[in-house]
Parts: sequence; structure tokens; C-alpha cells
Amino acid sequence: MKILLTGAGGQIGHDLIGALAARGHEVVSTDLAPRPPSHAHAQAGKWRRLDVTDAGATLAVFEEHKPECVFHLAAILSASGEKNPKLAYDVNQTGTWNVLEACRQTGVSRLVFTSSIAVFGPPPSGPLPDPTPDDVALHPTTMYGVTKVAGELLCAYYTQKHGVDCRGVRFPGLISAAMPGGGSSDYALFMYVDAVRKGGYDAFARSDTRIPLMYMPDGVRALLEVAMADRAKLTRSIYNIAAFSPRADEIAASVQRVIPDAKFTYSPDPRRQAILDSWPKSLDDSAARNDWGWAHKYDLDGMTDDLIPRVRRMLELGAVLSTH
Ligand SMILES: NC(=O)c1ccc[n+]([C@@H]2O[C@H](COP(=O)([O-])OP(=O)(O)OC[C@H]3O[C@@H](n4cnc5c(N)ncnc54)[C@H](O)[C@@H]3O)[C@@H](O)[C@H]2O)c1
Repeated sequence: MKILLTGAGGQIGHDLIGALAARGHEVVSTDLAPRPPSHAHAQAGKWRRLDVTDAGATLAVFEEHKPECVFHLAAILSASGEKNPKLAYDVNQTGTWNVLEACRQTGVSRLVFTSSIAVFGPPPSGPLPDPTPDDVALHPTTMYGVTKVAGELLCAYYTQKHGVDCRGVRFPGLISAAMPGGGSSDYALFMYVDAVRKGGYDAFARSDTRIPLMYMPDGVRALLEVAMADRAKLTRSIYNIAAFSPRADEIAASVQRVIPDAKFTYSPDPRRQAILDSWPKSLDDSAARNDWGWAHKYDLDGMTDDLIPRVRRMLELGAVLSTH
């Protein structure tokens, strides 16, 4: 299948390009930025510069490549989006509109949308149910979450009105040995990275912070599975998917199983802690499990055992990650 990615230069694109190429798909990777050096392994396929906020350029790239399926990854993530809400609106909202319109106008039959747990926020009536189901009132607290809610609704609209088959998942915080993109869940990855390179980490979240997390290989597999699922089996456009929901100090304990001397301290940053506290503690993903057989493979310790050697390799290769 000919598949086009937007925002291919990011954390998910890094792993998704290789997974698609390994399955024999023809991949056209696009991003605002040039191909990052960390994507050197993923030379398979073309790389095109594309700014999704530019409607004309988006349409032209779709007309040129005529993809059968599009994975729309381009976005400004939660913490970065709160620093620059206008940019988050332009990329996430207008960009998604432009991509959907390009799909409609060029006859792309399938669009895969990457939503997020940031669509949730505490409703006025009280805290979110734990676990949080797919269908609760959505009260996001960030511009990122606002635009992801709108993106989900646009996906359902384009499916109903224009026959662009849009489907996707609400990702938990994704963890992988790659540069994170400015999300509020980045503390979890830095517990691994700084344990390896500095012997410990001062987290920007409280020790009892608990949000849904997922290891990237499961996240990429979820995207591939929802993309290829039989439409007749899908009862909704966008699905909660879950793996595990550790407290920050449980992640620390899992790291210390492998690096016993690692020291962890907690200095919550009020801005990012407020975002984390507004998100679900865990997700009910029974619809994804029932409709398309979603099942995670990695639990917290399984991720830790696989991730730490990869983080070591990434650092040996000279990756520069500024702790934030
Ligand atoms: N990583 C996570 O934990 C997570 C969790 C939930 C949802 N998601 C979603 O998954 C998708 C991919 O996430 P990621 O972690 O790879 O993000 P990332 O920040 O690592 O990558 C996003 C990419 O989008 C590109 N981009 C920014 N502005 C653009 C523009 N105007 N035009 C084209 N490209 C532009 C950036 O250059 C970057 O390469 C996003 O839609 C994100 O909202 C990610």
C-alpha cells in the first residue's frame, strides 16, 4: 500500500516508518523539518518537506504522491503547545483541516489520526472516572487537548459526510529511546535517560503522579492494527488504548531493579503537574480490545528491561537530550 506520513520526523515517525517499510509498504515521509539524523535507519522511502499549515502545499504533495492511506502525525504536543497556543492551534487544528481536505480532494481512502489522553480533563461534576471510558464529556485543559478533540470530531465528520475513512487511537504517554517532542509525560522517559547517564533524575512531576503510559513498540503496533482493521468491525472512529498506569515512584522502582544505585527526587513543575493531574489515571480500552483485538504486550518491567539497553545505545551514539 502507498502510505504518506505527516510529521514523520518525530518520536512516533521514527519507529513507524521502519515498521511500515518492513511490512512492504511504499512510504512517503513528510515533515516541516529535514530528515533527522536519528532517522538514518529509515532511509527507505522518500522524504518530502511539508508544512501542514499550508493548504496549497498539502494538496500539492497529496496530488503528487496519491497515497492510499495517510498517517497524520504532525502536531505541537501538550507542554510545547501551552508555551505557544497559537502555533498549536495552527498546526493541530488548521493542519488537520488541511490534511482532511487534501484527503477528500485527492480521493485518499483512509486517514489514521493520532489523538491523545489530553482530550480528557476533569468535568465540572467531579473527577474523571477511573478507568476512564471512551465516551465521557471532554473538558481538555490544554490547547493541545482542545485541538485533539476537534480533530477527533472532524475525523468522524469526514467519515460520515465525505467517505474519508478516518480512524485512530487516543495514545497514552509514549516511551521510547528517542528524543521526546515536548509532551507532559516526558518525565517518564527522562527517569530512564538520566538514570543511565547521570545516575538519577529530578522529576518535574510528584512521586504519586499516575497517568497511562505505553511502550512505543505497542504504540506503533496499535497504529498499524487500527489502520488495517476491517471497517465493518469498527464501532467508532477513535479508540482509547491502554497498557499500564504506573505512579512516578513505581517507574523509579522499576528502573532501580536494573540500575540499583539510581536516585530519584521529585520537584513538581506547577504548569506541567497541573496538566498531568487533569488527565485520566487509567483508561478503559475495552472497545479497542473487542472491535479490533487490541492487546498490549509490554508491562512496566517488560518495558524497563527492553528500554534501558536501548537508551544506553542511544547515548553511546551521541544523542543529545536536554533534560527539561
Ligand atoms: N508521543 C506521545 O507520547 C504522544 C501521545 C499522544 C498522542 N501523540 C500524537 O502522535 C503524533 C506524533 O507524536 P510524536 O510524539 O511523534 O510528536 P513529535 O513532536 O515527536 O513529532 C511531531 C512532528 O511534527 C512536525 N511538525 C511540527 N509542525 C509541523 C508542521 N507545521 N507541518 C508538518 N510537520 C510539523 C515536527 O517537526 C515533528 O517532527 C502527534 O499527533 C501527537 O499528538 C503522541
